[in-house]
Amino acid sequence: MKTLGQFIIERQKDFPYAKGELSRLLRDIGIAAKVINREVNKAGLANIFGYNGNTNIQGEDQKKLDVFADEQLINALTSGDECCVVASEENDSYIPVEHNISKGAKYVVLFDPLDGSSNIEYNVSIGTIFSIYRRTSESGAGQLEDCLQAGKNQVAAGYIVYGSSTMLVFTTGRGVNGFTYDPSIGEFCLSHPDIKVPEDGHIYSVNEGNYQKFPEGIKKYIKYCQEEDEPTKRPYTSRYIGSMVSDFHRNLLAGGIYIYPSYHNNPKGKIRLSYECNPLAYIIEQAGGMATDGVNRILDIKPTELHQRTPIILGSRNMVLKVMDFVEKYSQVALI
Ligand code: AHG
Ligand code: MN
Ligand code: MN
Repeated sequence: MKTLGQFIIERQKDFPYAKGELSRLLRDIGIAAKVINREVNKAGLANIFGYNGNTNIQGEDQKKLDVFADEQLINALTSGDECCVVASEENDSYIPVEHNISKGAKYVVLFDPLDGSSNIEYNVSIGTIFSIYRRTSESGAGQLEDCLQAGKNQVAAGYIVYGSSTMLVFTTGRGVNGFTYDPSIGEFCLSHPDIKVPEDGHIYSVNEGNYQKFPEGIKKYIKYCQEEDEPTKRPYTSRYIGSMVSDFHRNLLAGGIYIYPSYHNNPKGKIRLSYECNPLAYIIEQAGGMATDGVNRILDIKPTELHQRTPIILGSRNMVLKVMDFVEKYSQVALI
């Protein structure tokens, strides 16, 4: 058995900037994840269900657990010496870490503290998603430009799923590894080394309630998934949890595709580029899959706003390529 801590020490030489800071950051995120996991697990007993009465910058109602998870991550990341700036889906603006200026902090961490908040009350899997960059600004506290980097600049990314077991999955650009939390010893233990997503999957995950509003290419692809065809093992299976991180995790292991397209009134879809799309796109590419907005590689998109949204299609390589064919053929205009 190998713990996350042991794995990080052993692999430190593989990390892009092997001075130990990235290892410490990952360890800090692991600690925050354990605390969030504890609260998620006893949420029904701890008066932590429900809304806190505020909305976030994106107009979404905040839940108490969204805010709790956000605070845990901010505390864990800003109390270490590695971060010069952090930003999260639940905060209006980025948070410069002033007290780390003199320490030469190099890292930028962006995160979705709790993904799948609409599922919190119902014992359905939810998660945390994080994305780590090196700063691009030269000095002082971290700035907006440090947070607005294209996903291809990520040096690490990962997620934690609070599911039937709790798992942490991450990449530092040398493959994808998954760790299962063993509550009896309080450690994440390596359970899924070097994860690869099957090239051809048989699961599609999309909110079909919005079908009528989807671009023509996406509608045609969904119909394609539903057709009977023995050689390609269609119809595919439809699975949609409504927590992107959980849908992603299942599709990563089993093979499949997650789609959140643009739709009428929402030309940019719903999913956030920097907090959700980029980290999962980095992981899926590292696992051999693909992530696109229908036309462009997700990791190539340079964000212009912190809370920018984008349509996203990601998962098994051949499934993503198929959707792109349909988009090109039937949607004519780009998805965005
Ligand atoms: P969050 O809970 O962080 O706001 O994200 C929810 C996202 C994503 O996780 C999920 O797949 C999607 O919203 C579900 O949206 P719909 O209910 O529109 O399908
Ligand atoms: Mn989310
Ligand atoms: Mn969230």
